Amino acid sequence: MPSPTRFLALAALFFCRPPQSSRPGTRGFPTRPPPTLTTPSPTTRPLSRPRWARSTRRSRPRLTRRRTPRWRLPLSPPSTERLPTAQSPTSASTRRRRHHQKARAFGPGDGVAKREAGKFEKVFDGLPADQHDASIQGTAYLTYTVVNNATYNVQGCLDWCSTVKGCVFVNVYYEFNNYLLDFVFGEKSNLKCAAYGDFHTAVEKINFGGQASYPQDGNETVPLTYITQSSGWRLDQDEILAPETPDGYELVFGPTGGANNAPGYMGFSFLDKYDVDACALLCNGRGVDSNGGGCAYFNIWRAVVDGVPTTYTCSMYYLAADESTAVNYGQGSLVVTLSRGYARKSAIIDGGFEGYTACDKFCVTESYANWIGSSASNGVADASIIFNPTYAHTGHGAALLGAAFSDDDEAGMLTPAQPLQTDKGANYVVQCFVWSGFASPGVEAAAKVDILWNGERVGGSSGYTEEYTFVQAPVVATGSDKLAFVGGAAPAWTFIDDCKVYKA
Ligand SMILES: *[C@@H]1O[C@H](CO)[C@@H](O)[C@H](O)[C@H]1NC(C)=O
Ligand SMILES: *[C@@H]1O[C@H](CO)[C@@H](O)[C@H](O)[C@H]1NC(C)=O
Repeated sequence: MPSPTRFLALAALFFCRPPQSSRPGTRGFPTRPPPTLTTPSPTTRPLSRPRWARSTRRSRPRLTRRRTPRWRLPLSPPSTERLPTAQSPTSASTRRRRHHQKARAFGPGDGVAKREAGKFEKVFDGLPADQHDASIQGTAYLTYTVVNNATYNVQGCLDWCSTVKGCVFVNVYYEFNNYLLDFVFGEKSNLKCAAYGDFHTAVEKINFGGQASYPQDGNETVPLTYITQSSGWRLDQDEILAPETPDGYELVFGPTGGANNAPGYMGFSFLDKYDVDACALLCNGRGVDSNGGGCAYFNIWRAVVDGVPTTYTCSMYYLAADESTAVNYGQGSLVVTLSRGYARKSAIIDGGFEGYTACDKFCVTESYANWIGSSASNGVADASIIFNPTYAHTGHGAALLGAAFSDDDEAGMLTPAQPLQTDKGANYVVQCFVWSGFASPGVEAAAKVDILWNGERVGGSSGYTEEYTFVQAPVVATGSDKLAFVGGAAPAWTFIDDCKVYKA
């Protein structure tokens, strides 16, 4: 633990205070050197690292310890419960209700633009009508309907697909001996139309029916369901290849055939389809990493095994990655496809204080292009920005609340130089790391920082923290928002670093 005196002496050496406020030596600090001095003298070099940062061996690996996942993927198909074949009456009617609601929700009359129909191409034919066939059992199943079965009504199915959000592929087939289709549902049709959010091929025709759907009647044999004339149709453009970028994110790379293997890994989830919005929601809702903070980036990709879409992986990171680490191409028969990286956008410019680069060892300023520190009316350097990796959570910059030279015990205020550009009315979350452990625990017990959003306190921190500690506060944006950190009362200093304002 460095003594405050040593830090402040060093700070005094390199901080260019305005002449009217300079009080050289009044507190036993060395006389300030000429302002032209920009490199530390040898005597100031051995600045000991704070305890939390002393061992890079301990803290660094924590950032990189966990690795991108290996390829232990469950290759099982979705549970039969989710498939559009004969099911129990309850689940069937529930699903039917849902798909009717869904179809309504995306109907042309509801203001949702209907995709143009007719852009489909046949992927595979059904077998001749007198032979048993099989329906697709594949990923990204969305919903199904039945279409008029007076003819083999492919067009009715394609038209319907065009009204289903995310539908890029349909499987059309007759299903026989399904009690619900034959006797319960109003459509009185056994021509099924199953919608998918991914493309499938004939090798996935593996659902032959074979279920007992009719009720048992005396000792009569219950007829089993079976399928005929199962054909597949897909949009003739790769619609799945161009999803809209989720709100609050920006596309970093993709689509490529490589998944990220990058530092800051927070774990992954399987999605039931290639759904960038769902992945973004998972990232937004991810618990924070105490060392790394909130989710800052996700990588979504599809696994294809022997040509068959198999899983959709959403991997999350607290450090933004890029294409340079997207180097997991798969292994064995598993091929990585449609890999895309998305970074979460922060409304704070330079929340890591890395833009302050006035020196290459140690320097302090009250303001620079991106941040403004303000002191109490009778205070000096009550809020400042420091260049020195020792005091930074990451990188070389950090902010300091509390008089950098112990000139006073007033609180300082730190604000971004510009109001934050936000989406009016949207929910955001302010995230930062704070460290109130420079002085002794007893002294730092009084440390306190308030996070102000347009002048209102929304969160903060208080008390001694041995290491940088994560804080966050939910806020609602007005479109142009003033963020401020107010606190510090030397010698109860607080350092701040790696601040983000994310859409929640
Ligand atoms: C149409 O479906 C209904 C209900 O399953 C069935 O009873 C009927 O025989 C089917 N018609 C044709 C032409 O396949
Ligand atoms: C079972 O079926 C046979 C004809 O195959 C019939 O003679 C018999 O009465 C039936 N038994 C019952 C219990 O319905």
